[in-house]
Amino acid sequence: MSPISLGIEAFYGREPGMPISDPLLFLGLILILIHFGLPIAYYLYARRKWLPRPWGISSRKDWLPRLTVVIPTYNEEKNIVEKLENIRDQDYPAEKIRIVIVDSASTDRTVELAEKWASRSRGIKVVILREEERRGKARALNKALSLVDTEVFFITDADCTWAKTALRKAVELLSDPGVGAVSCVKKPSSSGVAGIEEAYRGFYNTLRVSESKAFSTPIFHGELAGFRTGIVKALGGFPTDIGADDSHMATLIALKGYRAIVHDSILCFEAIPPKDYHRWRIRRAQHLVQHFWRILLIRGKRVPRVFKAVLYVEAFLHLFNSWLLLVGAGLLV
Ligand code: GDD
Ligand code: MN
Repeated sequence: MSPISLGIEAFYGREPGMPISDPLLFLGLILILIHFGLPIAYYLYARRKWLPRPWGISSRKDWLPRLTVVIPTYNEEKNIVEKLENIRDQDYPAEKIRIVIVDSASTDRTVELAEKWASRSRGIKVVILREEERRGKARALNKALSLVDTEVFFITDADCTWAKTALRKAVELLSDPGVGAVSCVKKPSSSGVAGIEEAYRGFYNTLRVSESKAFSTPIFHGELAGFRTGIVKALGGFPTDIGADDSHMATLIALKGYRAIVHDSILCFEAIPPKDYHRWRIRRAQHLVQHFWRILLIRGKRVPRVFKAVLYVEAFLHLFNSWLLLVGAGLLV
């Protein structure tokens, strides 16, 4: 006799305490259990097994190369000046930074404000590229890529800021030739839903860092993503048909055998949209779904076993896990 009994039974006219005999009901419960249990189990495993590991990266603090920071913009008049000042205020020699803004036909004052700032900026070089029409962030990044002549480059969204040491730390990690890409951990910077977002981030950042310590993480952040230019160019630039262009590029780099890591010494603050929080979350989740589908379709992944495992678990979580809840709940009903 199955010992399982739930309050829900009373709701459906079952005597509380009576065993569940219906196999469909039982299957429904199992699916729901997997839906909630798998992410928790994965998190606990990653935190326990991978997080305590050393990074295994041999970086050089004295490597301070010239570098490029690419900012794609579409209607960012509210953010662009703060964004530029935040880069200027980095703990990194300003004369070694070149900023490339790629604007896709913004209808507000983004370009005007950026040009004004550039004309006053001492030290940092700023180039502004303008597209005639809006064709998406990835195409804009690829346009900028053709101008990138530095060994490493960074991409960053306009609506976020970096901790003062972020750039220096990121460069330090990229000084190890085995590291192909680096990204940041994120903290929400605005109020409102920031509380939920903060709790979620704690869990999420721990996973990203744990996976990175194991080898690499398949999820990167557009707030700060740094790449070895040669590898990105060899891969043909950013994919233009996948929303999560940064995560996809990082994963392709990891599949080439380089590390692609989210490091806990690199901190970014992201703006949480005050309106439409849930829509924003769903859009990002959809981007990751596209990304993981594509990754699953790549055959012959010659990478460390642990990274294969990370890819399959993350792909499952992003592609199938929510269906378990849906189907499970359907069976219960
Ligand atoms: N040039 C250009 N052209 N820039 C664009 C376009 C475009 O068509 N669309 C968006 N951008 C710029 C924005 O101005 C911003 O600087 C950056 O790209 C990110 O856009 P957001 O609208 O802030 O994106 P998000 O916060 O929802 O998306 C985040 O997640 C994506 C993955 O799901 C960002 O971190 C993205 O970078 C990331 O790829
Ligand atoms: Mn954003």
